[in-house]
Amino acid sequence: MAKNLLTEENFKKLDEIIESNKDMKGALMPVLHEAQKIFGCLPLEVQKVISNKLSIPMAEIYGVITFYSQFTLEPKGEYTIGVCLGTACYVKGAQKIIDRIKKEIGIDVGTTSSDGKFTLEATRCIGACGLAPVLTVNEDVYGRLVEEDVPGIIAKY
Ligand code: FES
Repeated sequence: MAKNLLTEENFKKLDEIIESNKDMKGALMPVLHEAQKIFGCLPLEVQKVISNKLSIPMAEIYGVITFYSQFTLEPKGEYTIGVCLGTACYVKGAQKIIDRIKKEIGIDVGTTSSDGKFTLEATRCIGACGLAPVLTVNEDVYGRLVEEDVPGIIAKY
């Protein structure tokens, strides 16, 4: 599991960032970016502090976080499995690959396994269409996949 980053020290850093941005118009985006760098994600506790100090309603903050895919509410797993759902990969059976991963690890797209090991994501075209269907595990790329390749790939991690 990712280390607990909700420490007093990190909240202090967050305060400083809010302080130095709060008089700026559009402070929310830079504050969220920095907060995610500090905490690795933007859980409720962090949203609350930002909401109070910038006087922005929680609902608005939550809306922004869930709208932009660069923000995440939960810590990511040690390994992020990205399955490309671009056209070429989709046509060549990416959905089957996703379904098999879901079955093997027992998680849904956009979630992290309870042991904190894997996060499953659907991605856009990663520019490796010639290898479709493609999946990535952190920096590693696997292509021309069939469903049966999935258990072997997962076992490597
Ligand atoms: S569509 Fe998957 S890599 Fe391009």
